[in-house]
Amino acid sequence: MNETQEPTPEPRRTSNGNGNGNAAHGGNGAVPHGLRPRGEGGLNLKPSGRLNAIPTEARGTAPVDSSAPIENAVFRCRDVNVFYGAKQALKGVSIDVAPRQVLAMIGPSGCGKSTFLRCLNRMNDTIPGARVTGSIVLDGRDIYDPERDAAQLRARIGMVFQKPNPFPKSIYDNVAYGPRIHKLTRSRAELDDVVCSSLTRAGLWDEVKDRLGSPGTGLSGGQQQRLCIARTIAIQPEVILMDEPCSALDPIATARIEDLIDELREQYAIVIVTHSMQQAARVSQRTAYFHLGELIEVGETDRVFTNPRHRLTEDYITGRFG
Ligand SMILES: Nc1ncnc2c1ncn2[C@@H]1O[C@H](COP(=O)(O)OP(=O)(O)OP(=O)(O)O)[C@@H](O)[C@H]1O
Ligand SMILES: [Mg+2]
Repeated sequence: MNETQEPTPEPRRTSNGNGNGNAAHGGNGAVPHGLRPRGEGGLNLKPSGRLNAIPTEARGTAPVDSSAPIENAVFRCRDVNVFYGAKQALKGVSIDVAPRQVLAMIGPSGCGKSTFLRCLNRMNDTIPGARVTGSIVLDGRDIYDPERDAAQLRARIGMVFQKPNPFPKSIYDNVAYGPRIHKLTRSRAELDDVVCSSLTRAGLWDEVKDRLGSPGTGLSGGQQQRLCIARTIAIQPEVILMDEPCSALDPIATARIEDLIDELREQYAIVIVTHSMQQAARVSQRTAYFHLGELIEVGETDRVFTNPRHRLTEDYITGRFG
């Protein structure tokens, strides 16, 4: 089955291109002042409320073929399996990651979302006993090719974690760290420019411009996460991986990060793991649903939330599972 052949619901395009840019922020209902307006329309608080009136019996139970290739894909993953010792955590995952688009990965705890994310920058290499099979192609070459330098690869693939993890260094040095070790700038003035533009793009410059020498760890949680995003984009990666980047943040800080993700996708491919289906619907253009290590279904976010093809996806997004 090809996801592009599936009839999609009436498009409701907004600023983030997925029809959900006006969705209310999950949980609090308050619209933070000064942020992108989030009105009544769109997905709202209950994605399941938008499900088309398709009888459950009409949804399949066979795995949905998710390998429909995407033109100009940044990553092409085919039949990816991950083992931790004897335990298989990921089973035959095939998916493409498109440029300038946000791919959300959702699914119950332990289904393999973080494991898959870690495959994309070879972070599983650092876990003793972890083994990856299958192919993950970036620029026409497998990233697990033994001749590929994992450190160089990670410089092209930024990662933002659940818990903000600024280095115990100044705000300036946190952002300057990557450009320095990868020798991306030739002068202090150039480095200053990169630090300033990265902090500006991360929406943090105005809050920190007068205290660039202060420790990054002294910022609030939401500011720390934006600092980590600034640190990530300072090395100009091609892809940004985010593993539940907002789970430690309040709704206002979450809204800022989501707005930022929406801006960043104009330039980067972004893969985000989230437990919030509202967040997946707000920020992503494609959504992948994982279950017990398998990729069950992937498609346009709007389609997945309004017309899931697989019974397991429907159960999850309607709250019957997980
Ligand atoms: N380092 C590890 N060693 C052994 N097993 C692991 C390791 N990391 C993850 N696993 C196992 O692999 C499976 C997938 O875990 P993973 O962390 O990818 O799930 P997840 O979907 O990200 O879950 P969550 O939503 O709770 O973060 C789980 O069964 C988990 O226990
Ligand atoms: Mg995880």
